[in-house]
Amino acid sequence: MKTTAISMKEKKSRNEKITMLTVYDYSTAKLMDSCGIDAVLVGDSLGMVMLGYENTLPVTMDEMLHHVKAVARGCENAMVVADMPFMSYQASVTDAVINAGRLIKETGASTVKLEGGRAVCPQIKAITEASIPVMGHLGLTPQSINALGGFKVQGKDKSKAEQLISDALLLEESGAFAVVLECVPAELSALITKLLTIPTIGIGAGNACDGQVLVYQDMLSIYPGMRPKFVKQYCDIGSMMKDAFNSYIEETRSGAFPAAEHSFKIDADIIDELKRLYGAGN
Ligand code: KIV
Repeated sequence: MKTTAISMKEKKSRNEKITMLTVYDYSTAKLMDSCGIDAVLVGDSLGMVMLGYENTLPVTMDEMLHHVKAVARGCENAMVVADMPFMSYQASVTDAVINAGRLIKETGASTVKLEGGRAVCPQIKAITEASIPVMGHLGLTPQSINALGGFKVQGKDKSKAEQLISDALLLEESGAFAVVLECVPAELSALITKLLTIPTIGIGAGNACDGQVLVYQDMLSIYPGMRPKFVKQYCDIGSMMKDAFNSYIEETRSGAFPAAEHSFKIDADIIDELKRLYGAGN
């Protein structure tokens, strides 16, 4: 069954956890979809883990469109959430509706995600009114990295915690169908999760959230950059990939690869005749 904004809310009311991972390509999306993941997020984190940018700020609409299309082709049942890149929605409500529309119309994604609290509520309302479900994103919002002063836990003091609570309530009021909480103290996420009727999806926000999301390169140890404290390493694919690349290089250099079973055959009479014809001997 395809995950929708409505089925996600129903999961919250049944106390069933929601599973989400980021993904940026067709093959990996197909693997995740076949495992029964509820939702996949084509995050603007692709700027860092796929494109090697220092942060998510340079990511463009064209880059997002390219990757969301590939992911949507790989998903049968998982909800595809397309992240709105920096400056595709902040400047005006019109920009926001036009760019959210492109992400849906041109890719096959069914929902969009954008970062921020009170300041982006008019955008959330307008996109939702255009019949596009919107996932919010609060706490550590990487597109505001310059304003936040670094990748830090958010909402630790009372006034910041109150601001997070009021932003979460405002997002729900504006029509968001779910909200990502990133790098928020576990007890505060638990409180927000209780106060909202829409699901919370945590990343570094404790286990009381209605669901969880991780960047897949982080959980598989593929990304060579920093790995935040909240990431659980489910397996070390990075090391397995390096071992495989090293074996390939070694075997290619030694001539051990390709072996007979990786090669194609031609009739012996034909090759002998060709050798005679071209004077190549035996
Ligand atoms: O871009 C992204 O991958 C995200 C997740 C970290 C939630 O926004």
